[in-house]
Amino acid sequence: MILVLDFGSQYNQLITRRIREFGVYSELHSHKLTIEEIKAMNPKGIILSGGPHSVYDENSFRPDERVFDLGIPVLGICYGMQLMALHYGGKVSKTEKREYGKAVISLNNNPVLFNDTPEEQTVWMSHGDKVVEAPANFTVDATNASTPVTAFSNTEKNMYGVQFHPEVRHSEFGNQLLNNFVFTICKAKGDWTIENFIDQEIAAIQKRVGDRKVLCALSGGVDSSVVAALIHKAIGNQLTCIFVDHGLLRKNEADDVMKVFTEDFDMNVIKVDAKDRFLSKLEGVDDPEKKRKIIGNEFIYVFDDEAAKLKDIDYLAQGTLYTDIIESGTDTAQTIKSHHNVGGLPEDMQFELIEPLNTLFKDEVRELGTQLGLPDRIVWRQPFPGPGLAIRVLGEVTEEKLEIVRESDAILRDEIAKAGLDRDVWQYFTVLPNIRSVGVMGDTRTYDYTIGIRAVTSIDGMTSDWARIPFDVLEKVSTRIVNEVAHINRVVYDITSKPPATIEWE
Ligand code: XMP
Repeated sequence: MILVLDFGSQYNQLITRRIREFGVYSELHSHKLTIEEIKAMNPKGIILSGGPHSVYDENSFRPDERVFDLGIPVLGICYGMQLMALHYGGKVSKTEKREYGKAVISLNNNPVLFNDTPEEQTVWMSHGDKVVEAPANFTVDATNASTPVTAFSNTEKNMYGVQFHPEVRHSEFGNQLLNNFVFTICKAKGDWTIENFIDQEIAAIQKRVGDRKVLCALSGGVDSSVVAALIHKAIGNQLTCIFVDHGLLRKNEADDVMKVFTEDFDMNVIKVDAKDRFLSKLEGVDDPEKKRKIIGNEFIYVFDDEAAKLKDIDYLAQGTLYTDIIESGTDTAQTIKSHHNVGGLPEDMQFELIEPLNTLFKDEVRELGTQLGLPDRIVWRQPFPGPGLAIRVLGEVTEEKLEIVRESDAILRDEIAKAGLDRDVWQYFTVLPNIRSVGVMGDTRTYDYTIGIRAVTSIDGMTSDWARIPFDVLEKVSTRIVNEVAHINRVVYDITSKPPATIEWE
């Protein structure tokens, strides 16, 4: 395992990602880990990440200094390098101007960290302070005009530092450098694969659960589906899933989820048909946040009612991902958003949590799903909000309006799939704004609803751009929607990015 200590740089997750891509397990943890905690993890190598502070700031983040005395190789990146420099008596100077962007560096001394990379190479810099004097017994391994100590090392102590960011793709040979650290210096083995993960996790779940029972809220989304499939593989029908159909799902979705899990996987799934319960609670409500709240609460009540009917459940399985944990804060980066999975289950539910995906990134979860035999349409399902179509019918939700969104959405999805765009466009759906306009169909004047098409590209949903769907595909979608969906006489395409808009319309 390679341990990455987090000092708050926005690139930190990338370090862990890159190392896992080599087949070496790596975890990102708070810089506040105690030396005992670090030792207990038994890492083969430690990376001190970059961070936004100056090492001279009063409250700057510091690791337990004994991290340098463990006899474990350490690589300091940017701020991490500066911490290393100070620890060993080098000099760090505060600079007036940040150095940001690409820079060309030259190597000295044939440094081991840079094995198999050229003498001149482009790297990505993003720092304010910099090391201006390497500590005694350290060699300066790379330089550039504005950063004379771009890299240093003490190979006897196995200490390495780089001022730039090898984890960022713009650092041309950054991957090779991390590879050299992990394999040549730390002597890690590249034997971490999803297959091994499955075997290990299954053994761990079996050991933990024994002959007791586990409950899982299945939504049909990637994370809960993969959790259910994994736990089912470990303990079979000691797992019970509850699938709440709130009547706000897309066309055929509920049936499809049930088919996959009960027929193909032979799982124990209780489907709760709660459409009427949700729709009656939503009657007369047009405020988006109120709608969300009602749906969130109702979901918990329904789940709670069903769970109470079951006997002897000890565990609740959740699809919490590694990013959920990191984003909820490892004490350094700002908390971006707090995550709830089965958001706010009542505290008096006496379950222990099982979260077998909480060390994985989304793409690893997808790979895991595929290895477990889940179909592509689940593994590659586009993000779908918990409140479902209720936030795509703007204003009050009625069954008639839900049907319009459901049908138009199905047409859009069908045409996007036919055009082979379903993996390129991050999220795509239709919305029903609460407006009617004049049209003409045949010889008749119409006064009917408008459908909006929303299709975006994004990495994580935090920002997005509108997808450049070819006009001929949009034309087919538009023609089909006005011809096939009752009460629609106009189709518009949303061409706003996020920000300033959001992805959903409510
Ligand atoms: P916005 O509309 O905020 O959406 O740009 C960003 C991403 O989050 C999804 N989304 C939600 N997901 N409950 C969810 O589980 C919600 O209330 C919710 N609102 C938005 C949205 O579909 C997009 O992927």
